Amino acid sequence: MDVAVFSAKPHDRQFLEQANGGRHRLTFIEARLSDETARFTDGAGAVCAFVNDDLSAPVIATLAATGTKLIALRSAGFNHVDLAAAEAAGLTVARVPAYSPHAVAEHAVALILTLNRNTHRAYNRVREGNFALEGLLGFDLAGKTVGIVGTGLIGQVFARIMLGFGCKVIASDPYPNAQIAAEGVRYVPLDELFGASDIISLQCPLTPETHHLIDDAAIAKMKRGVMIINTSRGAVVDASAVIRGLKSGVIGALGLDVYEEEAALFFEDLSARAIVDDVFARLLTFPNVLITGHQGFFTREALTAIAETTIGNISAFESTGAPLHPVSAKPL
Ligand code: NAI
Repeated sequence: MDVAVFSAKPHDRQFLEQANGGRHRLTFIEARLSDETARFTDGAGAVCAFVNDDLSAPVIATLAATGTKLIALRSAGFNHVDLAAAEAAGLTVARVPAYSPHAVAEHAVALILTLNRNTHRAYNRVREGNFALEGLLGFDLAGKTVGIVGTGLIGQVFARIMLGFGCKVIASDPYPNAQIAAEGVRYVPLDELFGASDIISLQCPLTPETHHLIDDAAIAKMKRGVMIINTSRGAVVDASAVIRGLKSGVIGALGLDVYEEEAALFFEDLSARAIVDDVFARLLTFPNVLITGHQGFFTREALTAIAETTIGNISAFESTGAPLHPVSAKPL
């Protein structure tokens, strides 16, 4: 099958070519999928897209008109796809429901440990010969309460790691998981989670219900000094509200791997340009904010699994008309 791979970085080429083994004809396109670039597919039966590719109705219409039959997402999340438009245009959408929950969960832990012990600041200080400890004070994780919003694949792995640190782990999820509850996670209503947590980690999908879940009203319910970690999707957090929370001191630390307007920033080297997003630029000024550019998934194991499942989806679609992991409905 001819496959147009959008947002293709060198690592996408490496892992996809390895998984493909010459089965499909892959064309790697560095550009993001957009209204403008959709016509580059040139009749490819499948389009392979990532999290910041545009899969809105007009783009889907162009893809359908140029002969695309399958959209194979290299991601678990599919909030960026207009599924109704895809269905109406007769396009099948496939995703990678699970690759390495460890990759994202461990990245969330990396953000927590860095923010808590200020290793991001210590790194620069020590290189400049500054060995002062003022401003680097952290806290023991043992005994602290960690609140997890969303105990799916990633949230469960994250819960087990935090239980291993000796934390009390509470969670909120419309579908509580009995196994993780048996291992020591206590399910509580969201408001209770906001009020009781020293650290709040967001591991839920972006849905209408979770859009701006962390807003001014939610922050007002939190403990003073709370740490908030978001490795899910940017729009789960209202960035302007967290800036207010940081300024007032209610939020003591903020770790973000995702940002609502990340499509204009992430995955590119913009170091020689001015950042025009003032909200993002303001977030970067806080010493207790740590932002990574959507790298939670970026481990060898996750990239191998993403590539293998993506090629599996395309092969299954080619031979049976149905991918292994179709996206059939909006998440909750
Ligand atoms: P999953 O589908 O296994 O779990 C999501 C969980 O969230 C489910 O248990 C669901 O019931 C729960 N949930 C849904 N709505 C909720 C709500 N309103 N409140 C609380 N919980 C709610 O998904 P998985 O694999 O654990 O991934 C979670 C999210 O992480 C993905 O949707 C994606 O947005 C994000 N992600 C981020 C990556 C990164 O590189 N930073 C990589 C992979 C995923």
